[in-house]
Amino acid sequence: SAAEKGGYDYFMLKEIAEQPKAVADTLLGRIDAAGSLTLDEVRISASELREVDKVVIVACGTAFHAGLIAKYAIEHWTRIPCEVELASEFRYRDPILDSRSLVIAISQSGETMDTLMALRHAREQGSKVLAICNTNGSTIPRESDAVLYTHAGPEVAVASTKAFLTQLVACYLVALYLGQVRGTKWGDEISAVIRDLARISGSVERVLETMEPVRELARSLAGKDTVLFLGRHVGYPVALEGALKLKELAYMHAEGFAAGELKHGPIALIEDDLPVVVVVPSPRGRSVLHDKIVSNIQEIRARGARTIVIAEEGDEAVVPYADHLVRVPVTPTLLQPLVATVPLQVFACELATARGNEVDQPRNLAKSVTVE
Ligand code: G6P
Repeated sequence: SAAEKGGYDYFMLKEIAEQPKAVADTLLGRIDAAGSLTLDEVRISASELREVDKVVIVACGTAFHAGLIAKYAIEHWTRIPCEVELASEFRYRDPILDSRSLVIAISQSGETMDTLMALRHAREQGSKVLAICNTNGSTIPRESDAVLYTHAGPEVAVASTKAFLTQLVACYLVALYLGQVRGTKWGDEISAVIRDLARISGSVERVLETMEPVRELARSLAGKDTVLFLGRHVGYPVALEGALKLKELAYMHAEGFAAGELKHGPIALIEDDLPVVVVVPSPRGRSVLHDKIVSNIQEIRARGARTIVIAEEGDEAVVPYADHLVRVPVTPTLLQPLVATVPLQVFACELATARGNEVDQPRNLAKSVTVE
């Protein structure tokens, strides 16, 4: 009903709008007054966590993209090797697991059969499993050793939005907690990031306030067949997520690429007026990556692409090459997906509407897939 949708036309619009609160709620009570993480719910002892020599993340769909981003954070802040695998592939390749492997299963519903089978396999090998889940008491957390709940609230639209942002928050919390427990050389950076996380919900809010030009652009592209997405570092999984959203909702051919791979193949796809969304990393910090992606934008534009550039406020280097420029607030590189994903969700949702598609119930898809 209209009331359930809180005055929005679709659950997806409501859920996109709820993201600042979902992010804040997922952080609530998990950072103490001293700025340390208190993840008491992770009932895996500090000594066990110190023994972990490998992290393996399993998930499907959008949750898998959260896992890909988590890998960058976990390896950077903890120096523990981290693999991310599609849950449906995991147990069939005889993965190397033992009691020192920490397996993280990410699932909004907690009922995805592929993810459940992957975690069962991991537990049979003696690994500890930590679930990141949005649904209290669902099967995946019940069968795991520990659970960190995301507090997105019920997500009704099939295409995941607010659950994804909260999965990212939960992944960052786990990464920072592992770093904190194990005492890495990134101690100061970890404290700074914990402070940044506490402010991030306001940044998501700011992105939402500036989305009208993105909706207009989406409507103008309703007749297109293909949209490509490029990113680097954590922007690469963001590009994959942007493409997935467009497939799910707009039924368009959409692909995400690592920008560095362009020259190894995808650049052959560029033709006149092809829309290409580029997620640009911050010019601060890893500035080499920033400069490389700016050259990628120049290269594709020289070949006729219509460039849609998602870049940090104050990043002037991209301006001459952006046919459309979407600004996101200044954010530490590893946290940028929390703000950079939002315009891509809005873009896909509006394109779907413009194409006359059913936004909340895309064809052929189910909210939770309980078969393998
Ligand atoms: C289904 C949904 C996707 C979702 C995936 C994983 O395919 O359509 O939106 O990302 O399942 O769902 P989960 O509940 O495990 O996060």
